[in-house]
Amino acid sequence: MDRTQAMQAFEQVFGRAPTDLFTAAGRINVIGEHVDYCGGKVFPAALNLRCNIYARKTGGDTVRMTFRGIDGVVEFKTDKLNDYRDLEIGNYQAGVAYFLQEKGVDIIGCDLYYDCTVPFGSGLSSSAAIEVATAVALCEYANVEYDKVEIALLAQKAENQYAGVNCGIMDQFASAMGKKDHAVLLDCSTLAYEYVPLQLGDYCLVVANCNKPHSLVESKYNVRRQEVETALKVIQTVKDINNLSELSPKDFAEVKYLLAGVVAKRAEHVVMECDRVNKAVKALKDGDLVELGKLLNESHFSLRDLYEVTGKELDTLSALARKETECLGSRMIGGGFGGCTISIVKKTAVDGFIRRVGMAYAEEIGYKASFYETSIEDGITVEKL
Ligand code: GLA
Repeated sequence: MDRTQAMQAFEQVFGRAPTDLFTAAGRINVIGEHVDYCGGKVFPAALNLRCNIYARKTGGDTVRMTFRGIDGVVEFKTDKLNDYRDLEIGNYQAGVAYFLQEKGVDIIGCDLYYDCTVPFGSGLSSSAAIEVATAVALCEYANVEYDKVEIALLAQKAENQYAGVNCGIMDQFASAMGKKDHAVLLDCSTLAYEYVPLQLGDYCLVVANCNKPHSLVESKYNVRRQEVETALKVIQTVKDINNLSELSPKDFAEVKYLLAGVVAKRAEHVVMECDRVNKAVKALKDGDLVELGKLLNESHFSLRDLYEVTGKELDTLSALARKETECLGSRMIGGGFGGCTISIVKKTAVDGFIRRVGMAYAEEIGYKASFYETSIEDGITVEKL
């Protein structure tokens, strides 16, 4: 859907034209998976796939929302913001409004048309994009100054405490703070960050969706969080640390004997993945894409064997990518259990890669994967229409 169509759709539902466009990005994560809630470093980048909100301020006490591809209007009253936790569509938005109001922001009535091009359930953070874009819209209409990091933290709080998903900060941070053609190296224990140019020369990142729907709400995401919490508590009996990310692989080898079964596996993933992030950033800065690809593969194997968040579809998709001679590495991204992979592929080989991997995947799994044309863009944008 292009802009004119979106504006017409807005007008059809709400009777007047929109006046503003607020957007926030979906994201990929180059490496650093399932470490954000352990204080680790992550390396995400904001995408051209976005939550676009066409909007108009109406005043009054009602926020009305409608969504591309879904009939009907969902609304919430600004004086009853605690009441929408069970909304199937609109709870992220209500959560954001709830916590903004709690902070003293006056929530002003408005009409919002959501044209979200981040595929839902794809592991590309459609929920973070929706939360961040909504927070921007509501702050702009309340006429308050806002800080993008604050917006990310508030969006995460809404997802944790309103929608009930115990996610880390990576997605909301990338969605708000992403920068064109850069990945964000974010230290999740301090929120210190650095932009690193995502320059891959003759190569590019291909994003593929295995099309097995995933939902963090239904997945084992919260279970994994509990498992690493358990590991941390045990290790804290012998080591003075606040986060698992503080352990080097050598430190971990010394304390591993304290942990048993899945808890040991989960903690080992976190420690090794944190180590891989540092190596990957160095490889990228050195232009060593072969090494970067190798680290992506290792990340996938660890998510498959130690963290156990992949599944047949993601394993098949990334294994097929890895078989391609012009592919340097491939891994699942995001929460897992479904969603997307990224692969480093030679630009001139992309068409053949998509064709061959796509065909073999459909044959093996029984339905098709999707491939997206992506670029790395800014996180939040605000525009008058
Ligand atoms: C989801 C969460 C993030 C992060 C990833 C895994 O996307 O929202 O906070 O934990 O999974 O790296």
